[in-house]
Amino acid sequence: MKKILVIHGPNLNLLGQREPQVYGRVTLAAINSSLKKIAQKRKASLTIKQSNHEGEIVDLIGRARGKFNAILINPAAYTHTSVAVRDALSACGIPAIEVHLSNIYSREEFRQKSLISPVVKGSILGFGAKSYLLGLEALLDLLDA
Ligand code: DQA
Repeated sequence: MKKILVIHGPNLNLLGQREPQVYGRVTLAAINSSLKKIAQKRKASLTIKQSNHEGEIVDLIGRARGKFNAILINPAAYTHTSVAVRDALSACGIPAIEVHLSNIYSREEFRQKSLISPVVKGSILGFGAKSYLLGLEALLDLLDA
């Protein structure tokens, strides 16, 4: 059974209430339950974490080697700032996909750079909560290939 680590970065615990015009009204709990349905259908196991703390995210990625086959991550604001999260993903040797609810390239200039994109297999963004579901399917396809 393929084991996937899902990491939600800072402020994603507030989905549903947070800037719904940008991020939609879907809650994190609803996203997680849709992800679990896909995982069940595709016989994969999911471990889902949310953290507002950069170091905790770095630790989660650092401890993933040997335990998980792949990582699905929305690094949220750390996408644009965190060399530490990027280095952790680069060092862990596990394939990862980056997802975003919004299209970061159509937003403020400071969001238009991802430090994460160069070290992941691919990025899926701009589809709201569906970005996560597409990301998980893509990751499982990648592992099956
Ligand atoms: C986000 C985009 C980031 O710029 C922002 O800081 C987030 C969410 C997204 O999913 O669209 O917190 O990663």
